Amino acid sequence: MALHCGKTCRQYLLHLAHDNVDFRLPEIKALLSLRGRQCEPSETFREKSPFWRLHGLSEEDVRSVMSRTVCAKSVFELWGHGRTATELKSSLMEYPRESMATFLQDQSTYKINVYTFNKTLLFNDRIKKIDALDYLPFQGKVNLKDPDHIFCLFEDYGLDPNDIPEEPLYLYFGRWISDGQRELIRSHSVKKRHFIGNTSMDAGLSFIMANHAKVKPLDLVYDPFVGTGSLLVACSHFGAYVCGTDIDYNTIHGVGKASRKNQKWRGPDENIRANLRQYGTEFSYVDVMVSDASKPVWRRAELFDAIITDPPYGIRESTRRTGSHKEVTSPPDDFSGESHVPVSMAYHLSDIFADLLNFAANHLAIGGRLVYWLPVYRPEYCEEMVPLHPCLTLISNCEQTLSSHTSRRLITMEKIKQPEVTDALAQLADPRFSPYQGHNSFREKYFSGITKKNEKGNDKPATKEGEGS
Ligand SMILES: C[S@@+](CC[C@H](N)C(=O)[O-])C[C@H]1O[C@@H](n2cnc3c(N)ncnc32)[C@H](O)[C@@H]1O
Repeated sequence: MALHCGKTCRQYLLHLAHDNVDFRLPEIKALLSLRGRQCEPSETFREKSPFWRLHGLSEEDVRSVMSRTVCAKSVFELWGHGRTATELKSSLMEYPRESMATFLQDQSTYKINVYTFNKTLLFNDRIKKIDALDYLPFQGKVNLKDPDHIFCLFEDYGLDPNDIPEEPLYLYFGRWISDGQRELIRSHSVKKRHFIGNTSMDAGLSFIMANHAKVKPLDLVYDPFVGTGSLLVACSHFGAYVCGTDIDYNTIHGVGKASRKNQKWRGPDENIRANLRQYGTEFSYVDVMVSDASKPVWRRAELFDAIITDPPYGIRESTRRTGSHKEVTSPPDDFSGESHVPVSMAYHLSDIFADLLNFAANHLAIGGRLVYWLPVYRPEYCEEMVPLHPCLTLISNCEQTLSSHTSRRLITMEKIKQPEVTDALAQLADPRFSPYQGHNSFREKYFSGITKKNEKGNDKPATKEGEGS
């Protein structure tokens, strides 16, 4: 299960979290590509495994990944691995002693942890496993509270909780280098955020989106369906300048009804700027404004380094755009009054995605990324439904299941060329470049699935905080 990123033979062991499994590989690849490293999984690579071996990277590379990742828990310099304790021992005996020496010398203190995946060991069994490593030439003293060096023995008992083997399927031993940023999920939890709404994006997913988008310091990032700005919070944490628009006046101005229980109206200063202030990134705030994403309000130029968004799909908020009575019915011939009365019209999902991709093609810098959620009806989903654009290449497409019949897919695209007149012809010729009308029925299918479920007497569909909209 190795990721090959170059020619050097040094190996690292990435210990991954077991939530958001589908998002992990694109995240790690995006973070490595920020360092100019391209990685390809080996033939034995198992994406769902909690342990990935990384080849051909420097310690700076892996430290830089760990400074951003919310999918990986920690990284270790891999000293040995094998399918059995005997294989692990031979592998460890082959690891150059001079590379070990600095960390084992008598002046230093250390501790060894034992981590088992898919099995819980008794304390005594853990101690036995540590004792069995006595062939390693540790010279220093054990210090459990504040050691100079931390080592870990990992035992992988597979992924099936209903079929746990007696002996581990694979073992690893390594020296701890650094932890990832899982702590951000807690520190930025929506539950403790100053300004939230019904569809505020979960903190972990917001950071994953910012990572998939390769957001970096001084970038300018835009969210055209900004809501309460959860995605801007994540991007500003990584040093980007952030801005956004939303059709909803109350959300942009932080007024109106509150989303929190026990609070009727939003209080003063409940707005996106205050959210950034809460996390110490107010200096990154450019601005937000009321605007309809279906209308061209921006000067035609490459304005943004990344566009990250969670478009409405009509489940927990309406998909509306501004229109005029003229678009609905023609006024009578003798009509002499105000001819432009803005009203709100349905904004079909297929148009939302077509507009979004066109917007990204026109306003992203070359190499800039568009990251967004695409809702899908699972029984009918196939890869061909993912909207394409001649100027954008698809980088990744990861599923987050919402219910037995619905999910949303995190789509990441990268701008590869400037729009040309001929692109319009390509869009006509290839159905994948045209808006896919099937997306429009997502709402009906979502609710039809729920109705069927409720008829069977099941619970309401999952509406986890920050999931779906
Ligand atoms: C799923 S929510 C975004 C939530 C946001 N990521 C957050 O963390 O709060 C979608 C947002 O799109 C907005 N919206 C709906 N139609 C729009 C349109 N035509 N133009 C711009 N925004 C629109 C809604 O008001 C809503 O705030």
